[in-house]
Amino acid sequence: MEGLIPVVNKLQDVFNTIGTRKVALDLPQIVVIGSQSSGKSSVLENIVGRGFLPRGSGICTRRPLVLQLYHSDGKEEYAEFLHVPNKKFTDFDEVRREIETETERETGKNKGVSNKAIRLKVFSPNVLNLTLVDLPGITKVPVGDQPGNIEELIRNMCLEYISNPLSIILAVSPANADLANSDALKMAREVDPMGDRTIGILTKLDLVDEGVDVLDALDGKVIPLKKGYIGIVNRSQAEINANSPLSDLRRKERAFFLNHPSYRSVASKQGTEYLTKSLNGILLAHIREHLPDLKSNVQRQLRDVDKELAALGSEPVDFKDKTSQGQLILGLLSKYSTYFVDSIDGRARGG
Ligand code: GDP
Ligand code: NA
Ligand code: MG
Repeated sequence: MEGLIPVVNKLQDVFNTIGTRKVALDLPQIVVIGSQSSGKSSVLENIVGRGFLPRGSGICTRRPLVLQLYHSDGKEEYAEFLHVPNKKFTDFDEVRREIETETERETGKNKGVSNKAIRLKVFSPNVLNLTLVDLPGITKVPVGDQPGNIEELIRNMCLEYISNPLSIILAVSPANADLANSDALKMAREVDPMGDRTIGILTKLDLVDEGVDVLDALDGKVIPLKKGYIGIVNRSQAEINANSPLSDLRRKERAFFLNHPSYRSVASKQGTEYLTKSLNGILLAHIREHLPDLKSNVQRQLRDVDKELAALGSEPVDFKDKTSQGQLILGLLSKYSTYFVDSIDGRARGG
């Protein structure tokens, strides 16, 4: 089953090459939502085990980032952007700078946002095969170049990703604020009222006032969620500034849960490591459950491209004209969808 996610990722790339964004969104992926500075980008970095995302106070994530993680056996850890072909990034600070540059290219330097996604792959022996989407945080008051309707704009951007019934929603809420005010849970409920595909993430547990614990929230006693909540401790801004390694953070996070009088008893089901393991399993189960939808989705795409090609007629092949582009795309699509459907069939049978 492990192999199913890379296949889905490949398909996503093909659809993305064709440029039909709608289709890319119809593939399974894990989407992070929440209010600005709730810790979304930090959670994603922890899952990858590498610091490479723009994050901090204020608006840092200004375009969706589709992040495909590939587990590799080699020792090498590297990243590739779809918009920078044939370049292996081995320096993760450079990855962050590239995200920032590419963000600015589309949105300018002054806090503007865009729904045009940046696509990034990370290959590493330390990751599980997952596709994650980082999104700008929900914010109410426009700053910088942001338009007056910034809240609605970001809302729609999030909805675009989480309305997809194939997406798993990581609804991130800071534990040091009232859960009843959570933008993430409110929005998740709109598209997933039964909570079938929403996981609650409580960040900033280390910032909760002494003597107060949020065990009830973690237990789902405040706002019930079918798939439950996982508590997380991310790096603080001071730790980010000091460039303290994420591996230290994992140990610190573990120790936090094990030593905390209230969380000790539930420690095995908290933290980044537990989250990562759960996500992989949840995504696989979800893909398996939705195999029939995925298949018909792929087949519908094939038919559409086929129709478009027929409409263009069969001109002599010129690499630059539309017909040969269409043929190229059709070739790619049939190749991958055959591979995809076969893999799915094989794996569904094999379990
Ligand atoms: P985003 O806007 O939701 O993507 O949030 P970021 O990941 O950019 O984090 C916003 C700020 O909150 C950063 O300064 C982080 O260091 C800080 N932060 C996030 N999570 C935690 C946490 O669990 N504990 C502490 N102490 N700080 C956190
Ligand atoms: Na932020
Ligand atoms: Mg962010």
